[in-house]
Amino acid sequence: MKRRIGILTGGGDVPPLNAVIGSAYRQAESVGVDLVGIARGWQGLFEMDLVDLSRLSIDLSIGGTVLKSSRVNLNKVDGSREQIQRALSRLGLDGLIVVGGEDTLSNAFLFRDVPQVLISKTIDNDVGINEPGEIVNYFTLGYPTAAQKISSLVSLKEGLRTTAYSHERIMVVESMGMHAGWLALASSMGHPDFIIIPEFPLNYDLLMEKVVERYRKERSVLIVVSEGARWENGEYISADESEKDNFGHPRFKGGAESLAKRLKTDLKTHFDTRNVNAVNPSYIYRAGKPNQLDYNSAILLGKEGVDLFSNGISEPVLLTISDGKDGFKAETIDLRGQTGIDKFHRFVDSRYYDPAEFQITPEGKSYLSKIVSEVDEVEYGAKREITRRV
Ligand code: F6P
Repeated sequence: MKRRIGILTGGGDVPPLNAVIGSAYRQAESVGVDLVGIARGWQGLFEMDLVDLSRLSIDLSIGGTVLKSSRVNLNKVDGSREQIQRALSRLGLDGLIVVGGEDTLSNAFLFRDVPQVLISKTIDNDVGINEPGEIVNYFTLGYPTAAQKISSLVSLKEGLRTTAYSHERIMVVESMGMHAGWLALASSMGHPDFIIIPEFPLNYDLLMEKVVERYRKERSVLIVVSEGARWENGEYISADESEKDNFGHPRFKGGAESLAKRLKTDLKTHFDTRNVNAVNPSYIYRAGKPNQLDYNSAILLGKEGVDLFSNGISEPVLLTISDGKDGFKAETIDLRGQTGIDKFHRFVDSRYYDPAEFQITPEGKSYLSKIVSEVDEVEYGAKREITRRV
């Protein structure tokens, strides 16, 4: 009998989701698997809300997800396990392709006996293998596009550096990323002066010192702060994190605002601080079409996801992108013995970030350079580049 597999997308959307769905659908057609869409992630499975993919014309290069998304924590819903199992059997589904971040994927562990391919996606880049002592080049779907976007956004050629220069501003730009600094770190390819990530509590006095020194020299400073970054006392820089999502994670608000406000006050003794500004691009990081690396990776993972069923998986496996000898490749990770995704929750490696300079290290750069292209050729300072051109 023809196998019937469901595909769902959960958590924060990323640009290459339609490419995964479209590619999985194409492959399913070609190998004789019946692939059905499930609307709004795990929520749609509860409600048995199916989407007939054969009736949709999916533009693979458009962002967002035709299947829509939700953040549902099945551990918090009474009887969710039984309800989902009932839905799977009523819908005649032999397995699932679950495309999500840490939270969406963690729900899958409630159904160990259901064959599932868990495809990691999130602009936060915080799911992958995190072996201590080993630097592994994994990335999650959506990260390449968002990473490129943030580096363009702060750069001289395409971003904020020019207005910082023209108006002699100190600009604080907020990055998404939750508790991981991967996205903020990626901005280094657009050369901001300083980057603050959650993995290292902010030494504010040192930052002040560096900002004063840099501003005296360049007359403009660009700082990128990750939304989940903390002051040295452990409190969040974010102005408000009281609103929580279904997994209890804070929905950060105003980290750049709050750091800019403090700098505005404290730097007054050194210079005019009227042009200390905060910018929060927020959902812009998740918007738009996937870049080439994201698109190609999504096509690869969608196809591989279906092939894994044809090869006969019997339990959940994690499917991600890793760095092989001949470039990035799809990698399947056995989840036997794992009770959750925790082992695969990964943060910025301490070798990638220098807290004394608030900057990426050469090792960090070598990780990123395979995923993000450098936007400007110069190391620091619009001034140098602009005056050179003049
Ligand atoms: O997990 C991805 C992410 O973009 C985080 O970086 C961010 O904190 C969060 O989603 C915000 O998402 P939402 O407002 O949709 O809950």
